[in-house]
Amino acid sequence: MVTERIQRITAANHALLSFLPIWEEHRHKPYIADFAFGNPQEMVVEGFASALTSSTTPRSKNHYAYKFSEVESQRTVANHLLEWRGQTFDPEDIAMTPGAFGAIAIALGALVDGGDEVVYFDPPWFFYRSMILASGAIPVNVPVRSDDYDLDLERLARAITEKTRLLIVNTPHNPTGRIYPPSTLEGLADVLTDASEKFGKPIYLLSDEPYSKLVFSDAKFTSPAGYYPHTLISYSYGKILLTPGQRVGWLAWTPNMPDRETLRSAIFMAQIAGGWLFPSAVMQYSLAELDKLSIDLVELERKRDLLVTELQQAGYELQSPEGTFYLWVRSPDPDDGAFVERLAERGVLVLPGSTCASPGHFRISLTGTMEMIEQGLPVFQSAISSTAS
Ligand SMILES: Cc1ncc(COP(=O)(O)O)c(C=O)c1O
Repeated sequence: MVTERIQRITAANHALLSFLPIWEEHRHKPYIADFAFGNPQEMVVEGFASALTSSTTPRSKNHYAYKFSEVESQRTVANHLLEWRGQTFDPEDIAMTPGAFGAIAIALGALVDGGDEVVYFDPPWFFYRSMILASGAIPVNVPVRSDDYDLDLERLARAITEKTRLLIVNTPHNPTGRIYPPSTLEGLADVLTDASEKFGKPIYLLSDEPYSKLVFSDAKFTSPAGYYPHTLISYSYGKILLTPGQRVGWLAWTPNMPDRETLRSAIFMAQIAGGWLFPSAVMQYSLAELDKLSIDLVELERKRDLLVTELQQAGYELQSPEGTFYLWVRSPDPDDGAFVERLAERGVLVLPGSTCASPGHFRISLTGTMEMIEQGLPVFQSAISSTAS
């Protein structure tokens, strides 16, 4: 009855679909410490709701007409990128999207044909594989290095074939928190340039950067876009504002992108054919105000430092993330699903690593409150002791 494609996508999400009932069962309990997803656990940042409210008042008869990428939104993003990253973008090379999700779907729609290969790194954000399958392309996964979670460029070079059309890199990386350094990005550009020359066609890079503002004070973010001209960047406001239920983001490329007029019109058509993948009128009118807001990054870093220190002392293996709001932890029980269920029974929700194709790990979202962390720490401590014994 349903397509083979959606059956393959469903199979690819088996681990996540198995975890959702556990999350549902526990997350409404009064004393649960919920670190499972990047969802808000407290009220939205001040200024968010008022920005949206003031944008609901119609200023013209076109206020609620069909929206493309509004010129004002594109300009807001271009100005912000210049100020933030020192990089010049032509506003017309910024497509406004329903979050990074929408931006990824559009990039796939514009650049990838059925049967093309799309490469991404493991552990991945859990929906890359599904979205690649949905585009009709073939997903090819390459593991990151196990010691420092940096990109394994030798393995990447071996995974690229004449069918490779697109590579997805996510920095800062969900779930490891790694930010790839300039030396890696130079090497990455070399691999892609060599392979593009070898196969006589450009391999595009989609740099998925929804966490690029969530960078801790001891780290620095660099975008691959400065290293490889055929790069598109996907971004979402849902992370820095912690409002993933209000969809707004963008897909952009620098003036170095070859043949960018063709790309512009292809992206525009992919937005329409993909199901009108533009943000709503209200989100676009609110953008200039939303652009000034952020969750409390000082508090986020405090949570990171406390959890990393306490978990390491308790015997957990984890590296301190450079960005994102996640901690990536080795599960003391190789059966991460079983360990996560034991934590859930004791009032703590985390995401099993199997959902990110990495059994034997789990992910903690730092969007949980400080109270949740204080409540959760003794649970983490007793869970590792009882697993070891
Ligand atoms: C790496 C990565 N890319 C894309 C997305 C999608 O972001 P959004 O839902 O804000 O569009 C997420 C969300 O978790 C993510 O972690």
